[in-house]
Amino acid sequence: MTAILPRSFGVFGDPVAHSRSPIMHAAAFAALSLPHCYLPFHVSAGRLGEAVRGAAALGFGGVNLTVPHKQAALALCDHRSDTAERVGAVNTLRFVPNLDTGAIEIHGHNTDARGFLDALDELDGPPLRRATILGAGGASLAIADALLGAHPELELTWVSRRPEHIPSLALANATERVRRCNWQELGTPRGELLVNTTIVGLAGGPEAFPVDIELDQLEPRARVIDIVYPRPSGGLLDRAVAAGLTVQDGLPMLLWQGVRALELWLELVIPDHAVEAMRTALYS
Ligand code: ATR
Repeated sequence: MTAILPRSFGVFGDPVAHSRSPIMHAAAFAALSLPHCYLPFHVSAGRLGEAVRGAAALGFGGVNLTVPHKQAALALCDHRSDTAERVGAVNTLRFVPNLDTGAIEIHGHNTDARGFLDALDELDGPPLRRATILGAGGASLAIADALLGAHPELELTWVSRRPEHIPSLALANATERVRRCNWQELGTPRGELLVNTTIVGLAGGPEAFPVDIELDQLEPRARVIDIVYPRPSGGLLDRAVAAGLTVQDGLPMLLWQGVRALELWLELVIPDHAVEAMRTALYS
C-alpha cells in the first residue's frame, strides 16, 4: 500500500484564535487515518492575497475563510462555484494544479449554504412553506440562497435594518417569493422556520432585537435556528423551547459546512463515523 502524503489545510481569519474548525478537522483526519493537518492562520484584511497565493505555492490542499475575508476572496478565485457567485462570498478554497500550464488554480466555493440545509435536515419539522430570516449579513445570504433553491414553493420574509441593501443576486431568481422588510414592518413571524443570523445575543453584540419577536404565530413544531454558537442563554432559543418549538444553535451548520469543505478537498464522501468524530470534537 502506498503511503498517503501529509497535506496542509487551514482557516484564514482576523480574529481566528476562537475558531473551532482546527479541532473539528483534526478529528476528521484522525477518524479517516489521514496524516494531514489543519491550522488557524491570523491573516489581516490587507494580506489575504499574499496568504492565499502563499498557501497555493506551499502545496496546501485547501483553506477555509472566515471574517473578514469571505467577500474579498471572490476576486482572488480563478473559478467560483455558482453558489459562491450568487451569494457573493467564498468560505472554502481549493488549490487545483492545471496540468496544461503547470499553474495552481484557486477555486472558490461556499459550503455555508449546503451546510445550513444539512443542519436543518437534522431537525424534524413540518414541511417548509413560509420562513423568516432575521438579518442580512453575509451568513444570511448563503442561508436565503440555500432555502430558496431547495424549496421552490417557499415564501421568505427577510428582515434587515436596511432591507434595500439585500442584493437581488442572492434571491436565487426568486424575487417574487421574497418579502424584504425592516424590523418595524416585520409583524409577528408566521410559518415553519425562523432563523436568526444577526449578532443579537452574541457576546459583545446587542442584547435585544430592534423589536420584540413574538413566537406564538409560528406553526406547531416550527423550527427556530440561531446561527450564533454556543447557544446564548436567555435568548431567542430559550424562548422558543418554552413555546414548544424545535431549536438549533449554530454548531450543526458549522459542522456541516466543514464536512462539505472536506469532501471538496479530499474528493470523497465523508463517512458517518468521521462526521460524528467531527461533531464530538466541536461539542467538547
Ligand atoms: P455575517 O456576515 O456573519 O452575517 P455581519 O455581516 O457582520 O455578519 O452581519 C451581522 C448581522 O447582524 C447582520 O445580519 C446585521 O443585520 P443588518 O442586515 O440589519 O445589517 C445584524 N445586526 C447587526 N447589528 C444589529 C442590531 N443592532 N440589530 C439588528 N441586527 C443587527
